[in-house]
Amino acid sequence: MRLNFFVNGEPVSLDTDPQRRLLDILREDLGLTGTKEGCSEGECGACTVLMDGEAVHSCLTLAAQLNGRHVETIEGLEKSGELDILQRAFVEEIAVQCGFCTPGMIMSAKALLLKNPNPTPEEIRTALSGNICRCSGYVQIVNAVSRAAREMGGEA
Ligand code: FES
Ligand code: FES
Repeated sequence: MRLNFFVNGEPVSLDTDPQRRLLDILREDLGLTGTKEGCSEGECGACTVLMDGEAVHSCLTLAAQLNGRHVETIEGLEKSGELDILQRAFVEEIAVQCGFCTPGMIMSAKALLLKNPNPTPEEIRTALSGNICRCSGYVQIVNAVSRAAREMGGEA
């Protein structure tokens, strides 16, 4: 099928099998390897990206669902070589250990802050409950999202 959608604000047009996963299109066709593959079945959150501002598992999202959609990946957050506030907060709060879960965590946090710019720690934990960190750095991750929310001053 012919697929026309947007990734990080840029139009993308390609011919692909409608059953291909968004995760594979991002990593293999577009070279956007920041999005990670963990469980491949919607359980770990490592592959989380935004689709029209909502967090989705790219391992469960098929090409057939993508026409006209706006997808945002971890690569879309950095602007002109500068990390965005969420990325910087993860570094400053030492919320990154091996880093495998980090892109998915940050994209889930981004989706939360778009809807709720001033989340409580409990709301952050709930929003990130589908993202598993094998390194167990959850306290620092929640602190990082709180810090980013404060620094954004209500604007995600
Ligand atoms: S790889 Fe998609 S949820 Fe784990
Ligand atoms: S930082 Fe290693 S899995 Fe989360």
